Amino acid sequence: MKLKGLILSGGKGTRLRPLTFTRAKQLIPIANKPNLFYVVEDLVEAGITDIGVIISPETGDEVREALGDGSAFGAKFTYILQDQPNGLAHAVRTAREYLGSDPFVMYLGDNLLWGGIGHLVSSYQPGEDYALVLLTEVDNPSQFGVAELDSLGRVVRLVEKPKVPPSNLALVGVYLFDPYIHEVIETLKPSWRGEYEITDAIQGLVDRGLKVKAHKVRGWWKDTGRPEDLLDANRLVLSKLTRRIEGSVTDSEISGEVVIEEGATVVRSVVRGPAHIARGAWIEDSYVGPYTSIGQGSRVVGAEVEYSILLPEAVVTHLPSRLDSSVIGQRVAVNGRRNGPVKNTMQLVLGDRSQVNL
Ligand code: TTP
Repeated sequence: MKLKGLILSGGKGTRLRPLTFTRAKQLIPIANKPNLFYVVEDLVEAGITDIGVIISPETGDEVREALGDGSAFGAKFTYILQDQPNGLAHAVRTAREYLGSDPFVMYLGDNLLWGGIGHLVSSYQPGEDYALVLLTEVDNPSQFGVAELDSLGRVVRLVEKPKVPPSNLALVGVYLFDPYIHEVIETLKPSWRGEYEITDAIQGLVDRGLKVKAHKVRGWWKDTGRPEDLLDANRLVLSKLTRRIEGSVTDSEISGEVVIEEGATVVRSVVRGPAHIARGAWIEDSYVGPYTSIGQGSRVVGAEVEYSILLPEAVVTHLPSRLDSSVIGQRVAVNGRRNGPVKNTMQLVLGDRSQVNL
């Protein structure tokens, strides 16, 4: 059976502004690797190498440049431009020609799944299952698309962000579809928020008496749509790290599961894992604490950083207190004064919608 992949890497990413003013949210690195790369690797590992990638006019070029033609991943990518982010079902409709009459796996480009999708793909029965959805138990189902199952584990109802949730099983951003889904999508109307909802399309299958199977996530799942989710996803990925020191380390204490890539430098510092320091980064007279990723070419000098993500070429120097739970954008500089603050003043040059919490 031939399954295609469809990665959704368009959208607006409003919840991740200001980071998403200048970059695609799917390319924000988690443990120093773009989220989108994990998605591609999951698909390829499950044997899916013919992959369509939905892109937006705003960030499409950047996504294309980062992913290339697919050969680096052992895959073949076809880029599909979605002119407006009109919803997940609209993205599928946009890809209809590419998908043709093949069943396919749709994977949201800002989702991160630990444990892969192999079990999902291998349990799919073509011609019998019209959709296969992935579910996970959540504490706050009202914020998700929620599934109600029958005693056989089939989906009998789907509700988007219900006030009174029928279960605590939220839909995860990985779906398997029979090509029949296109017929249902043709009949959809926009929801109250003006989007063509994939939950409505799946409900359409259920309403037609067609089989929609459900699987529960093995391992964990994360939607990296908000800054706190990025930090949590970073923590989860870093917690699986194995120690690998390839860069240069001088007069420093490195403890636990720490990766220091080749070309990175650590001088007179303490690094407590799990932490990932990318190539070209420079750490001097500093403390890098657990669950921290330091991006390529970043500099940390005379500072303490913990549970944070520094994007490439970020600079953090001479801070009066520890940087914690922070996401520092590409080429952003956070500089203290080497000899401590003068008077009680702050000097800030911040772009639109920057956030500084002191
Ligand atoms: P969302 O996170 O639901 O939407 P968004 O990216 O517009 O973000 P925000 O709510 O912060 O404004 O999208 C999930 C994934 O699907 C994400 O990778 C973007 C992608 N997507 C598309 O490719 N096309 C679309 O029409 C939509 C709505 C999302």
